[in-house]
Amino acid sequence: MNLPDLCVARDRTKKEISYMDLDQKYEPLFKGKKYFLRTYGCQMNVHDSEEITFYLEALGYTKTDTLEEADIIVLNTCAIRENAKDKVFGYLGRCKHLKQQKPDLIICLCGCLTQQPSEVETLKEKHSYVDIIIGTHNLNELPELIVKKSKKQNIQVYSNSDKVFENIKYKRDSKICAWINITYGCDKFCTYCIVPYTRGRERSRKMENILEEVKELKKEGYQEVTLLGQNVNAYGKDLDLGYDFATLLEEVAKTGIPRIRFVTSHPWNFTDEMIDVISKYDNVMPYVHLPIQSGSDEILKKMNRKYTIAEYKELFNKIKEKVKNVAITTDIIVGFPNETDKDFQDTLDIVKYCEFDNAFTFIYSPRVGTVAALMKDEIPMSVKEERLKKLNELVNSYSLKSNKKLLGKTVEVLVTEVSEKDNNKVCGYTDTMKLVNITGSKDLIGKIVPVKITDAKSFSLDGIVE
Ligand code: 5AD
Ligand code: SF4
Repeated sequence: MNLPDLCVARDRTKKEISYMDLDQKYEPLFKGKKYFLRTYGCQMNVHDSEEITFYLEALGYTKTDTLEEADIIVLNTCAIRENAKDKVFGYLGRCKHLKQQKPDLIICLCGCLTQQPSEVETLKEKHSYVDIIIGTHNLNELPELIVKKSKKQNIQVYSNSDKVFENIKYKRDSKICAWINITYGCDKFCTYCIVPYTRGRERSRKMENILEEVKELKKEGYQEVTLLGQNVNAYGKDLDLGYDFATLLEEVAKTGIPRIRFVTSHPWNFTDEMIDVISKYDNVMPYVHLPIQSGSDEILKKMNRKYTIAEYKELFNKIKEKVKNVAITTDIIVGFPNETDKDFQDTLDIVKYCEFDNAFTFIYSPRVGTVAALMKDEIPMSVKEERLKKLNELVNSYSLKSNKKLLGKTVEVLVTEVSEKDNNKVCGYTDTMKLVNITGSKDLIGKIVPVKITDAKSFSLDGIVE
């Protein structure tokens, strides 16, 4: 069966999307004051933090990496798994302590956690020292909330929104690689996932605005853009304007920006046209992140993933066949409610079949409000942990195998920064998103250079500039 055919049969409810331009000016009322911003979670949050940074700096704040120095602390939270939430609440304890010594300190929480009504209730009751609670749909209101902040807790969370903001301003972390939101939210409702509740329904930006942003970034000298969406390849379905993700990807490729990638794709929306565009344009990176989640058809059904293993394999093989030297990475969850030994074995088997270049692996974490959270689960945590360990060993062996294939070869690397481990080295990524540590000078940063691979480990490569 051809996966994309399934999409045609899908019944979609059309909805009106309102587009809002953001052209507000901000007064630098907080000159001399400092902000501390901490980001948890996925690339979407990382990019949202670039928007938050813009607002804070427009208000006059300057950045500090020392919590104690801050006049405002912003925690951009994640709710995808329980441990992400625990980290935020752990950090809040430190903030509370600081606030006792410094009553004027503003503490602000935003991100996915604050989109969950039960968490907002907990914050209101048990963490009344938090000054501002804002959601994922209305970040643009943050400057106003900061200015208006009174002694009372200031809560501004929208449970859902049909709005798409264009012309959002960002203070980007990098001058080399840029994130570009192309679609917001998710309509897939995988039964374990909180995202459709915290990020709302799928809403696409208009193609002309995205292309404008890419062209602007190219002019500024950016080498790479990552098209972002919780379900990036569902792009355009809500617009009904006659274009889809493949059309957009091709138009972005035509701008001539040196490197383009996109995350995260759902197998259900992966079309033949997308594969054609990836293989046709040299500047579309041969890198596909294609979450499989489980190797068992039974579990996939319970997860509401909308594909079978046979369909995933067919798509996987098509991509491998048509896109030269492609790297395919994935996400896998172990310990979904009542996952049997056989289900888990099926997951190990699909990993052996696909030999993924890399995989992000997780133990299932029940999220309040999702369908799976109501499912009975008899599997002890010790079994889940054992499965994760076994899976990681297998996944790492294939990462090493795929890295070793590059030994002695010369590959193009976009150099992004000084190496964390060794200040005399720089590091960057191949067009298949493999991390390479390079013996070379800082002058290479921002350039795409040919690098000969001299050593290969599970998580990184070593190389020298050719
Ligand atoms: N428990 C564990 N992992 C999860 N993911 C999403 N929700 C959960 C959950 N409740 C994983 C999926 C997804 C990735 C971003 O996080 O594998 O692809
Ligand atoms: Fe979550 Fe599934 Fe949507 Fe991905 S596709 S964001 S896992 S609901």
